[in-house]
Amino acid sequence: MTQDDMKKAAALKALEYIKPDTIVGVGTGSTVNHFIDALATMKNQIVGAVSSSDASTKRLEAHGIEVFDLNSVDNLDVYVDGADEITEHFAMIKGGGAALTREKIVAAVAKEFICIADSSKQVGVLGNFPLPVEVIPMARSYVARELVKLGGDPVYREGVVTDNGNVILDIHNLQILDPKQMEIDINALVGVVTNGLFACRGANTLILGTPDGAKVIA
Ligand code: A5P
Repeated sequence: MTQDDMKKAAALKALEYIKPDTIVGVGTGSTVNHFIDALATMKNQIVGAVSSSDASTKRLEAHGIEVFDLNSVDNLDVYVDGADEITEHFAMIKGGGAALTREKIVAAVAKEFICIADSSKQVGVLGNFPLPVEVIPMARSYVARELVKLGGDPVYREGVVTDNGNVILDIHNLQILDPKQMEIDINALVGVVTNGLFACRGANTLILGTPDGAKVIA
């Protein structure tokens, strides 16, 4: 099985968590793209979706799935999204695709966060994957200096503008032993929109694509 096959296996398994007549929260990334394609087979059973990025919105709409503004939705049972790293406690690094802020907002509204990922994303300690931080453009240098004080090596992701019009700093060389505290500390810096640690609100269920197929870890 290739890594992409494992992503697809996890994405297909997530369909079992989608209830009829509901609006589905949809994340962003290559694993979620498989999920969106699979969700299209259920499009007549669901009401529609709330999306975490322009890219996912485009893909959902291309399949004929209606995309709702989050402000018009009271209830979201399930949010399905990928991760760049995930621990056994279901704390994650996300934002490799620069969609972290909208992902965090939709995840906050949903009752259940289902993470779909291939087995390479499982780690003991977060931080090998550079931690993305979305920053208001004029605060970029200031925030970078503050991140150095927190022990990281921030690198400006050149050429990338988020769906919200902001920039991304990727923090290298972190060993994140207390993900919740680090999430809070980085978010407290003026000019930071949010960071890619999903620890204060982590996943509830992990569907892991493995060489032996999809495994549910709850
Ligand atoms: C998007 O900003 C990210 O949070 C993705 O969910 C994450 O990078 C996983 O992406 P893949 O499914 O492409 O590995």
